[in-house]
Amino acid sequence: MGRAEAAAMILGLVLLCTAVLGGASPSPPRLRLSFRELQAQHGLRTFRLARTCCYEALLVDEERGRLFVGAENHLASLSLDNISKRAKKLAWPAPVEWREECNWAGKDIATECMNFVKLLHAYNRTHLLACGTGAFHPTCAFVEVGHRLEEPVLRLDPRGLEDGKGKSPYDPRHRAASVLVGEELYSGVAADLMGRDFTIFRSLGQRPSLRTEPHDSRWLNEPKFVKVFWIPESENPDDDKIYFFFRELAVEAAPALGRLTVSRVGQICRNDVGGQRSLVNKWTTFLKARLVCSVPGVEGDTHFDQLQDVFLLSSRDRWAPLLYTVFSTSSGIFQGSAVCVYSMNDVRRAFLGPFAHKEGPVHQWVSYQGRVPYPRPGVCPSKTFGTFSSTKDFPDDVIQFARNHPLMYNPVLPMGGRPLFLQVGAGYTFTQIAADRVAAADGHYDVLFIGTDAGTVLKVISVPKGGRPNAEGLLLEELHVFEDSAAVTSMQISSKRAAPAPNAAWRVTPTAPGTGPRAHASSPVPRGGSGGKT
Ligand SMILES: *[C@@H]1O[C@H](CO)[C@@H](O)[C@H](O)[C@H]1NC(C)=O
Ligand SMILES: *[C@@H]1O[C@H](CO)[C@@H](O)[C@H](O)[C@H]1NC(C)=O
Repeated sequence: MGRAEAAAMILGLVLLCTAVLGGASPSPPRLRLSFRELQAQHGLRTFRLARTCCYEALLVDEERGRLFVGAENHLASLSLDNISKRAKKLAWPAPVEWREECNWAGKDIATECMNFVKLLHAYNRTHLLACGTGAFHPTCAFVEVGHRLEEPVLRLDPRGLEDGKGKSPYDPRHRAASVLVGEELYSGVAADLMGRDFTIFRSLGQRPSLRTEPHDSRWLNEPKFVKVFWIPESENPDDDKIYFFFRELAVEAAPALGRLTVSRVGQICRNDVGGQRSLVNKWTTFLKARLVCSVPGVEGDTHFDQLQDVFLLSSRDRWAPLLYTVFSTSSGIFQGSAVCVYSMNDVRRAFLGPFAHKEGPVHQWVSYQGRVPYPRPGVCPSKTFGTFSSTKDFPDDVIQFARNHPLMYNPVLPMGGRPLFLQVGAGYTFTQIAADRVAAADGHYDVLFIGTDAGTVLKVISVPKGGRPNAEGLLLEELHVFEDSAAVTSMQISSKRAAPAPNAAWRVTPTAPGTGPRAHASSPVPRGGSGGKT
């Protein structure tokens, strides 16, 4: 029996005094609150839907004051002010024929041949787009949620069923990563039943679908997609790019090292329409670079190689948001997690740097020293940088170069050259991150909420150290948001539900299914009083 639970609270924010920040050591937390304490004194609210599990898709709708939740065979619409009350529920099971087919294909009828809702996006003023595994038959639907000021509505649009291939994964164990830009969905997903054809895919909308080169390990090598963001680069929409965050097996690693996982950031241009003679209906602007999160040491660097989550925090420079990320290790000897922060400008610099190149099967990957064709692969066709108006006009040598050189030679390093915050041997690992920028008397602070696989949320503040951009994380609170220490698998933050100043407040909305689809799913959405804690 799958159990599910959601919790919410508002945590009072506090004017932080420098004295506290200055003298603090990184551990233990200044405040540790149990599930009972959070419930009794801090307004933690929980929500649990009977006979379902796996609250993986969360969508905060500030305007309607709703939290939409996608779960096993269900959608729910909760009140952001109190997720315990007035839930609207909608059953969305997979049809019997699909479940039977799924069972014939050797999958478990009770745990796999269900519709696990994997993604929820705001589609237009009245509808959401929802996609689920549909018993290994991915499917999408438009869900009517009504106009902003109406009574809450939650209805499947009967005309609006869409093929979910390339949008939702088939396998409930796989994660979906996607972003909806206008009417188009950009997703990183396995697009086949066997879970081997990994693709970065654009679908819906008016233009033909576009994808990555199939079965080319230089492009994607057993990737696990984590997050996707649309990040404009200038006033000109032709320069808009979509960034994919994932981890995969390192194609560039020496074979002696075995199956080595690395974390990546990949880019594509929003106005890519594929090539004319080759790379037809494939990306011509796909590039990827390694994301490094490591601690320098005398005997070599300690690498946190497994990217788990990414949060995009807007900053004063609107073209250069910050990327807050959490990583864990895959090492058998040491267990640790880290928060690394990247600047978008450093990501862009890596894509303008040297390409990685491999001359032939017996050669090593090196930095490409030859002539790079014009227009430079990875640069969008736009008036800002050149004269090409469509990727279909790109010369053949550009397309050939792009096909053979998706990987950049230089990695992207974190700001300050090392993790902002890390924990080693803590007995748990970081799974999710959300960040909020908070004004204080002497500037601003970034407050981080880090979900763990032990049912806790850590509240960490980023404190400047020796002048920006260098900063270090200070652990303020450890909150046990679940009764049963299930992993936090999804987390949303609602900054609009803030209490009036000076106690600015915000809300965290974590979700937590366990490891498998049937393991217990819990998902908290904290909500609480506006009491300050400093
Ligand atoms: C939230 O809703 C629950 C269930 O209806 C109710 O018991 C509780 O008092 C509500 N809390 C607040 C603060 O409104
Ligand atoms: C939103 O999209 C749905 C599905 O395509 C459509 O039926 C509906 O009319 C649209 N609503 C608006 C306000 O455009």
